[in-house]
Amino acid sequence: MSNISEDYILEYIRDILPRREEYLEEMERYAIENHVPIIEPEVAQFLRVLLKSKKPKDILEVGTAIGYSALVMCDAQKGDCRITTIERRDDMIKLAEEFISKSPYKSNINILRGEAEDVLSEITDKYDLIFIDAAKGQYLEFFSRSMNLLRPGGLIVSDNVLFKGMVATDKLVIRRKKTIVKRLRSFLKYINELEGYTSSVIPVGDGLALSYKEV
Ligand SMILES: C[S@@+](CC[C@H](N)C(=O)[O-])C[C@H]1O[C@@H](n2cnc3c(N)ncnc32)[C@H](O)[C@@H]1O
Repeated sequence: MSNISEDYILEYIRDILPRREEYLEEMERYAIENHVPIIEPEVAQFLRVLLKSKKPKDILEVGTAIGYSALVMCDAQKGDCRITTIERRDDMIKLAEEFISKSPYKSNINILRGEAEDVLSEITDKYDLIFIDAAKGQYLEFFSRSMNLLRPGGLIVSDNVLFKGMVATDKLVIRRKKTIVKRLRSFLKYINELEGYTSSVIPVGDGLALSYKEV
């Protein structure tokens, strides 16, 4: 039960998704078996459509894990992009490097090690798309630090913003998640009211927010 969409809708949508490349399906199996949270299949498909239509050349990702979403984004554009991705865990970086080396996109992805809040303030390059998929309690900080790095006309995509439905209703909130939920609510309010940006919250996966930076 995702609490975002009905189970039968989710099952149906997942059922009709096309097969992925073998190295991506291997990563999906690894993530399930080892409880690594990667983007849901319907979110991956949504990103594919977004990337194929928008064609962002320079992409920044916050939260690499095993490198799955980075490879989905490369695959969507057949390698016509450069991805910089930030991860703080050495074990994840090692796994990501192994999986990426089995893909055709070794030279497209650069992993930066460290706490995203620190790494983001050191980056000076500009990006067409920024994908935020790391510690949910820090989204506002990640977003604020990403704004200067995003080109006008660019997009910030933030994953898990509805957090199992808890962000939308107190009825679902688990006590130990209260602070994260509160922070995500502040984050969504902030991006919706932010001047110079137009945002939309989409109930796909665990909730995706799209924020467009006006030209
Ligand atoms: C949900 S997983 C990312 C999944 C990945 N985007 C995918 O779909 O394949 C979140 C990752 O972000 C990392 N992370 C969380 N907070 C972070 C931070 N403040 N700085 C750097 N990495 C962080 C975690 O270690 C974890 O590997």
